[in-house]
Amino acid sequence: MKNQQGFVLWLTGLSGAGKTTTGKAIYEKLKQKGYKIELLDGDKIRENLTQDLGFSKKDRNENIKRVSFVAGLLSNHQIGVIACFISPYKKQRQMARNFCKNFVEIHINTPLNICEKRDIKGLYEKARKGEIQKFTGIDDPYEEPKKPDLVLDGSKKEKIKQNSKIVIDFLKEKKYI
Ligand code: ADX
Repeated sequence: MKNQQGFVLWLTGLSGAGKTTTGKAIYEKLKQKGYKIELLDGDKIRENLTQDLGFSKKDRNENIKRVSFVAGLLSNHQIGVIACFISPYKKQRQMARNFCKNFVEIHINTPLNICEKRDIKGLYEKARKGEIQKFTGIDDPYEEPKKPDLVLDGSKKEKIKQNSKIVIDFLKEKKYI
């Protein structure tokens, strides 16, 4: 068994910023090294744990509350959690921090125009046409973290490896792994 503490890497950022891709890269690296890691990803969680919720402020709060509760349980049992959620409101992220052990807030910082250009799921286009309401960055706010533990540039795909290394070095520095 690897010597590790429980921790939560909380990846926040716009839809299409690269949270899932970055989260998966970190997950693979840590798994490879033998650490106990769980990945909680917005899209997957919304298909299962929180399928009853939409995107109103109330529902997003509930989404984050349930997820941070789970992340808290895992992190209290020496498991490393990687959570990828837009989590657009500062208060939600503060709540998540309060539930979790060794919480690391990571802003995946990708400008809206780049996320919109990527438009992997075609949702930005729909939001611009008014076919989806309350879309983060379009007609719903994203409150940028003022003092996150880490800021990663998500605008370039080539940086994924480098970004994972930054996160893993941070975990080592904090002695979480
Ligand atoms: S959060 O706001 O509650 O943290 P979460 O990360 O779980 O959001 O889910 C975001 C994903 O849901 C997006 O990546 C996108 O695929 C999808 N989605 C659907 N509708 C919306 C919307 N109105 N705003 C943002 N994302 C949406």
